Amino acid sequence: MNSSEKPTQWQRPHLISLADFSAAEYNMILQTAASFRERLASSTNKVKKFPVLQGQVVANMFFEPSTRTRSSFELAAKRLSADILNFSPGTSSLTKGETILDTAKTYVAMGANLMIIRHQQAGVPQTIAAAFDHLGVNVRVLNAGDGQHAHPSQALLDLFTLCLLLDPQEPRLELLRGKKIAIVGDILHSRVARSNIWSLTRAGAEVHLAGPPTLVPRSFAQIAPVQVHWALEPALVNADFVMTLRLQKERMRQQLLPSSREYHQRYGITHERLTHCRPGVKVLHPGPTNRGVELSSEVMDDPNLSLIPEQVTNGVAIRMALLYFLGTQGR
Ligand code: CP
Repeated sequence: MNSSEKPTQWQRPHLISLADFSAAEYNMILQTAASFRERLASSTNKVKKFPVLQGQVVANMFFEPSTRTRSSFELAAKRLSADILNFSPGTSSLTKGETILDTAKTYVAMGANLMIIRHQQAGVPQTIAAAFDHLGVNVRVLNAGDGQHAHPSQALLDLFTLCLLLDPQEPRLELLRGKKIAIVGDILHSRVARSNIWSLTRAGAEVHLAGPPTLVPRSFAQIAPVQVHWALEPALVNADFVMTLRLQKERMRQQLLPSSREYHQRYGITHERLTHCRPGVKVLHPGPTNRGVELSSEVMDDPNLSLIPEQVTNGVAIRMALLYFLGTQGR
């Protein structure tokens, strides 16, 4: 890390996107997450709690389904000794016509300091954050995935997983410089792909996108220095890492694919296809997976190839780091 990239103080009031993140910010998060991860894994540390957010209230506001993100933010908040409020849209007063902003204000009135928001519409976390800023309400908003826009904590945990593999002692952004990373699948609908493109290109990785033309628009090459392929093999040749993405059928308004079976035949990641990659290649998937579609069951369950369980584990430490920074700094 050069001196201009040395971590300083956390400045952001909210975490909405990684589009303008600096190397110093990435490294602050990676180092802090590594410290939390080590302390959680320590056999001498039996009490997995840190009194960092004692007295603070975290509202987990998921307007769209989630397993990993919701549970790991909840666990992260509990590990940091915060009180947590969970919200389920189907059993909330949204069903009686209350607006999203009024729902958010209700949680603030109960003392929420940090608000983790997932919504199927892009822009909802940003809109709520802006509304609170306008009202002078001191609440921090973390985007847990908004439509096709961004999923910053997922990209950060992916980054952390890759950097930890390359240097378990000192995970840092520059370890990925020059690494070839293939992102394969439904790029068009993927907030995970967008957020990973920001972080990986910032790291200086060589990012290749691959998938069917209907799901991998050439226009992505205009927003970031990535290479776009409609055939799989050029993306896989000599790749160090392969990130697979879920086919997001719930976001496809028209028939963009012939069938899941045909997708797997043309773009599914199998042991045979991974022979094009560098020896030691690793495979990631943010989850949830369509088993046997984006990647074969055999690859998914191969501990020598799959980083999927590591991604989930690392999600807790990354989210602890994010809650720590937003809950204690940048005010
Ligand atoms: N990767 C991810 O966001 O998973 P969930 O939808 O289960 O949170």
